[in-house]
Amino acid sequence: MSNSIMQYNRGTDALKNWIVTESAYNPKLVGKAEAIFCLGNGYMGQRAAAEEKNMGETRNLFVAGTFNKFADNEVTELPNAADVLWMDFTLDGQAFNLEQGTIVSYERVLNIKEAELTRKVVWTSNENRTYELTFRRFISLDDKHVIAQRVEITPVDQDAEISITSGINAQVSNSGVQHFKEGEKRLFDKKIMQLIQTTTESNIDFVFNTAHQFEKNNEAVEVDGLILMERRQIYYAYNNITVAKGETLVIEKLTNVFTSRDKDVEVEGLKGLKTFAKEHLEGVLKAGYNTLFTAHAKAWEEKVWSVCPITIETAEDFDQLAIRFAQYHLTVFTPAHDNRMNVGAKGLSGEGYKGHTFWDTELFVLPYFIYSHPKVARSLLEYRYLTLPGAHKKAKENGYEGAMFPWESAWLEDGEVTPVWGAADIITGEATKIWSGFIEQHITSDIAFATWQYYQITGDEDFMEKYGYELLLDTAKFWQSRLEWNEEKQEFHINNVIGPDEYKEHVNNNAFTNYTAHWTIKNAMAYYNMLKADKPEIFARLNEKLDLDATYEKWVEKVDKIYLPQPRQEDLVIGQDDTYLSKEIIDLTKYKNQENVGSMFKDYNLTQVNEIQVSKQADIMVLFYLLEDLFSQDVKKANWEYYEPKTLHDSSLSLSTHCVLASDMGDKEMAYNLFNKACAIDLGPNMKTSDHGIHAASLGGIWQCVVNGFGGVRMLNGKLRIVPALPEKWTSLTFPIFWQGDRLEVTVTKNTLTVKKVTNNNEEITFTCGETEYTVKDQVVVEL
Ligand code: BGC
Repeated sequence: MSNSIMQYNRGTDALKNWIVTESAYNPKLVGKAEAIFCLGNGYMGQRAAAEEKNMGETRNLFVAGTFNKFADNEVTELPNAADVLWMDFTLDGQAFNLEQGTIVSYERVLNIKEAELTRKVVWTSNENRTYELTFRRFISLDDKHVIAQRVEITPVDQDAEISITSGINAQVSNSGVQHFKEGEKRLFDKKIMQLIQTTTESNIDFVFNTAHQFEKNNEAVEVDGLILMERRQIYYAYNNITVAKGETLVIEKLTNVFTSRDKDVEVEGLKGLKTFAKEHLEGVLKAGYNTLFTAHAKAWEEKVWSVCPITIETAEDFDQLAIRFAQYHLTVFTPAHDNRMNVGAKGLSGEGYKGHTFWDTELFVLPYFIYSHPKVARSLLEYRYLTLPGAHKKAKENGYEGAMFPWESAWLEDGEVTPVWGAADIITGEATKIWSGFIEQHITSDIAFATWQYYQITGDEDFMEKYGYELLLDTAKFWQSRLEWNEEKQEFHINNVIGPDEYKEHVNNNAFTNYTAHWTIKNAMAYYNMLKADKPEIFARLNEKLDLDATYEKWVEKVDKIYLPQPRQEDLVIGQDDTYLSKEIIDLTKYKNQENVGSMFKDYNLTQVNEIQVSKQADIMVLFYLLEDLFSQDVKKANWEYYEPKTLHDSSLSLSTHCVLASDMGDKEMAYNLFNKACAIDLGPNMKTSDHGIHAASLGGIWQCVVNGFGGVRMLNGKLRIVPALPEKWTSLTFPIFWQGDRLEVTVTKNTLTVKKVTNNNEEITFTCGETEYTVKDQVVVEL
């Protein structure tokens, strides 16, 4: 799969299927590469703008969990921190940038394996002088505070004079919103530049240090520069460095970033942090780019690739690259280091969704971590536990009990942070109200489900005792208070919600919401009884905290009276909500074939879309995925056939769920086709899809397609099931999963499934495939 600019097949030998290439520069299409080439380490993420400033670019650096609210009528967001990437070059009097002069050759490459971004440009100035420039950079996975850049400039046809201005530029904003107070700037030892900025409302200090070092002919050289300070800027001007024809000038720019939220730095106040950070940079400078890079690449190997190597044998090389690309970003955007932080819907690669956390984490990103890096999964769930104050606040504000989790989440105590106003309404000309923050409530069940899923797969009792049981009980407490009695039907209903399908607002009894709320309560009841019988101390603590005995009585009274929409007799279709099936059916061909998502809104506004049988994304399909044994294969098929043709997949969350279900239903071709479409969300030929940032849920979804879909791995009622269904084009698939603390290596070929137990926390692990249960002590081979 390729298009004129992005190439996926340039890696050879050891780097085969590890290389993503941008093969030309087009100022109109920079957003895609900026997002998909985003570097990061979970602590911070840097969008891949160029060093020099170019047209149409977006320069972003985000540090996870540093939210700030600019004004009362805005919501908190991840602030765009100072631009430390910036370096401007003047080559024999002419400013180097890609809009001037002639680009003789251009190639920008993301090496996924070593998480390094390299750009090679041969450029001829208006004076007809040619230079070769190579830019390399990485954000260290070994030392999360380090950003390293290395630039090599070689004049090709004559001696040159090169000038560089480079430093820290805090004159940046989030689409015009300035989240920082200007702090101190200073220079140390004629080398290290330091700049401080502090968020205006959340009062987080950011400390940046940067310095340059130079080499010529592989020898360190001293270059005199002039230090300059302007408003929110500190930088060096190194003027007229002479470089002989064919000689290479190397400039290393090494930077560190610390904030007052960092848990790993124990110092006294901002003063202590400044000193610590400056000394830290001294060590970084001593090491230099290459040494730092070696440690960084080793960290990727040790923390990521050797822990979760996934191998696909196929002639379709792109598939192998796509799963690695997903794992790359899952690592880049997940703040594994700090349980006060979570994953943003666009990771750390753009301003989209303001860095907020959605159900994207629990349903799409978390499964990768539960099965591959359980500790990281635990940290992400601990975040939800720590946000309970916000969830209680939201429940109270809405007149409910228990934990009502916010649809969009940021700070631990804030509760709901979904913005209230969104895109233009083409009919009224006003901004469309975003109702999700008020009535998209399934997030609470999603968190309960993910907590339970984590527990079933890992067996992490310590987590459950400290956090998990409470999450399961408190979410169920919310749901019992949320149920509405319908006198006529003698049932409990859940009215006025948005289900996963956001094209249906203010609906009653969204099937996904009702079933998962029912599940949350039933599940909590079972744990209430278990805790009471087996863990009396924990029970007593939680009983006091959550008033469990009284709540339990309400659960008993209500749970079996919750209305659970059933398949229609005539065609087995389940109403997505009370009214979906009676809405107007229109010809959706035009929108199904759209080039860009959301095209329907050029013809209709949301109020009108609400009255049409059209869905934004998987809704009932997600229910089939989570609670699969509640529905027969026939029911799943009937609903697929009814809803999929009405689903525009306008959310990036839609395709992976559909892929896994297609695979479950035995439709290999359809499943593979949907997998390819899911991969194309960020890697496809459409150059506009990732402008606001990569799609975190979709990237987690790609892993789900491979492992839960084609690999057929599922946790069902606490048991491991592996029923693989390889795409026709694949000859084998190998991946690891962690189950109950043991690492299993799973290999699927056309006719065998091999499960190898490579650690020994349990004497044996059992799993089912088809009707048979297998027990693995060392290795089991199943003939398919
Ligand atoms: C989707 C939601 C999703 C959000 C963030 C929306 O467009 O409809 O399901 O949580 O994007 O990715």
